[in-house]
Amino acid sequence: MTVLVTGGAGYIGSHTCVELLNAGHDIVVIDNFSNSHPEALKRVKEITGKTFHTYSIDILDEDGLARIFTEHEITAVIHFAGLKAVGESVSEPLWYYSNNVIGTILLCEVMKRNGVKNLVFSSSATVYGEPDTVPIPENSLLKTTNPYGRTKYMIEEILRDIHFADPEWSIALLRYFNPIGAHESGKIGEAPQGTPNNLLPYISQVAVGKLGELKVYGDDYQTHDGTGVRDYIHVIDLSLGHVKALEKVKSSKGVHTYNLGTGRGYSVLEMVKAFEKASGREISYTILGRRPGDIPVCFADTSKAFEELGWRAEREINKMCEDTWRWQRRNPEGYTSIETEKQTSLEKEPTKFFVTHKQEKVLNE
Ligand code: NAD
Ligand code: UD1
Repeated sequence: MTVLVTGGAGYIGSHTCVELLNAGHDIVVIDNFSNSHPEALKRVKEITGKTFHTYSIDILDEDGLARIFTEHEITAVIHFAGLKAVGESVSEPLWYYSNNVIGTILLCEVMKRNGVKNLVFSSSATVYGEPDTVPIPENSLLKTTNPYGRTKYMIEEILRDIHFADPEWSIALLRYFNPIGAHESGKIGEAPQGTPNNLLPYISQVAVGKLGELKVYGDDYQTHDGTGVRDYIHVIDLSLGHVKALEKVKSSKGVHTYNLGTGRGYSVLEMVKAFEKASGREISYTILGRRPGDIPVCFADTSKAFEELGWRAEREINKMCEDTWRWQRRNPEGYTSIETEKQTSLEKEPTKFFVTHKQEKVLNE
């Protein structure tokens, strides 16, 4: 009974690995580390005191994927691996369609060949585009506005077709709202490469002194203070939603679609205030024009997830900001500050760090 976690070294994946291990699941993680660091998985092991196999494999490497299913008795897959930057998807659409859509097709092919038909997929509230009403229920019209969003929409459709063709498949489509926060140990958290695109990583880098000031994109929306409103959800609540969704796909065949949010919206300026309170630091900001493609307000109707999964987000906005701040303060450079340490240890004891097998590096020191 082992769960394969693709993209498990990433932000949401690493937190979900912790909650899966805490819930007693065995896991195997694959990641190509294109947007993450093996250190995150080392820290998952530290937090949980549990061990698991980790492979450096690209989901586009079908043979590599197939070997994982031969070596482990996989019963379900949680599929996080994907590229997620909206702007980059506009300039590099082929890369996004190839990585996200073709990668998912290859994964499903290998699952099918091995008789593994339980899948939890990371979708996004971005599939709703600019919603007609808030809170947004799952049966809202889907109308994505950028290639990244379209990869999520296409994958949802592909997975529905797979279930239609073979009702033995059991699939959860989880539409995340805005994940923020970090594990309360301060050991794992969001570590964006380069300048962050999303609000909370940007604010926390201003607080820690890495960035000068926040640029607030627009104060002329039809919201109570004119700034954009979003449904921020603690990454631990989100991770616990995956544990519940996994139980659901194992107990009830079908395609189950759930919003994972809190059902409550906060504006940009409210988030600035909440972060100032949590960190004790002033967040300076300037108001700029609207960011192209942004929507005014977005928050979830979470009733379906509560009724069918018995899940609801419990962590409040202050806790989200406190945990983000602890992570940011302790790891101002994310996981890259350990690069130098890694180099030194590689020079001293090269074989202990990576054991290379053809394409994959097995990281189970
Ligand atoms: P992340 O970038 O931190 O994690 C994704 C992981 O997938 C990374 O570790 C990356 O190295 C890996 N990966 C990417 N392409 C791969 C490939 N071809 N083969 C193997 N590994 C690959 O992102 P995240 O925030 O943890 O998001 C996880 C998933 O949730 C993504 O699919 C993302 O689109 C989706 N999602 C994220 C958000 C968000 O705000 N963070 C919101 C909605 C949906
Ligand atoms: C963005 C993505 C969306 C993705 C989501 C979660 C875009 C256009 N949309 O959405 O597809 O699903 O992240 O990963 O990129 N803001 C600022 N200054 C900043 C950053 C953000 O004012 O430096 C504002 C935004 O205008 C918005 C709010 O903060 O009102 C939240 O922004 P962000 O964290 O990027 O999330 P989304 O806009 O919801």
